[in-house]
Amino acid sequence: MLAQLDQIEANALSSLQSVADEAALEQWRVAHLGRSSPLMAVFDRLAELPKDERPLIGRRANEIKRLLEAALAENTLALRQATLSRALEAERLDVTMPGRPLTPGRLHPVTQTLRAIYRIFAEMGFQVYLSRDVETDEYNFQLLNFPPHHPAREMQDSFYIVAPDSDDNPILLRTQTSPGQIRAMREFAAVDPQNPPPVRIILPGMCYRYEQISARYESQFTQVEGLAVGENITFSDLKGTLSDFARRMFGQQVQTRFRASHFPFTEPSAEMDIECFICGGEGCPVCKKTGWLEILGCGMVHPIVLRNGGYDPQRYSGFAFGVGPERVTMLRYRIEDIRYFWANDLRFLEQF
Ligand code: DAH
Repeated sequence: MLAQLDQIEANALSSLQSVADEAALEQWRVAHLGRSSPLMAVFDRLAELPKDERPLIGRRANEIKRLLEAALAENTLALRQATLSRALEAERLDVTMPGRPLTPGRLHPVTQTLRAIYRIFAEMGFQVYLSRDVETDEYNFQLLNFPPHHPAREMQDSFYIVAPDSDDNPILLRTQTSPGQIRAMREFAAVDPQNPPPVRIILPGMCYRYEQISARYESQFTQVEGLAVGENITFSDLKGTLSDFARRMFGQQVQTRFRASHFPFTEPSAEMDIECFICGGEGCPVCKKTGWLEILGCGMVHPIVLRNGGYDPQRYSGFAFGVGPERVTMLRYRIEDIRYFWANDLRFLEQF
């Protein structure tokens, strides 16, 4: 019996040598310490042994059991540690590897131009006034002296939110920043309706038109409106302010000229050109051989518009202008297609 126990012990210990993972160790436990293992069979048969042999065999069997249990515990621990260190090895970090570079953010080129415009006009005493993107026909057209059947009011040119013929004041996306002139004048005039205070504001914002999209026209673009209202404001104030703007924006040497034009909300109206800085006035494809580049629309605020804003045209006068930051940016960087601005192509945007 003792020899048999020696054999049981030797078998168990030798088969432990080939255990390589936790599953195999579990199989080993079942085979050598489980209910139907040879060792347990010895315990089962103890009672059948002669009385004097029982203590010796029992002690030896218990000793083997403790030994095998200790071996099991030790191997369990060793295998767990091996698994853990394999996992750590698998996710080993090479701390000498170079990091991934972070690309710094940047301002959209139109935002950069807008900020340059704000700075220039802020230095001349103009405040930024924000007006709404969703307008009524009344503010976008009627109060700005657009005649009832002006082509800009047609479906082809405006994005209506409510069908244009549902009532006489449909809602639309503003086609220009000019309706902000009325909103601003009314707000200023409300402060003191008998003596409305002077106005010096610029109104930046997105405008929307149902355009045939091309290299020159987008259905969405920014505009900066300007408005100065007060006593004794003359056309020379307009010319001085806008020529100075052009010099600060495009360089001290830039030449400007004013051409007569027409807008319903100004009288007289003009467009300002700057001398083509690509050909220096000689004539080239960019200026279409004229030597001049159109930069903004402007004029003296129409008496009807002043009155609609709450300013008595007998006492007050003013000038207004509208400039397109995309167009200014195109001229500054010689960009040939307006569609780049809102197409969100990083290859274009990353150049600024
Ligand atoms: N609202 C005009 C447009 O969208 C631009 C403009 C022209 C604004 C002349 C003005 C102005 O204030 O005086 O084409």
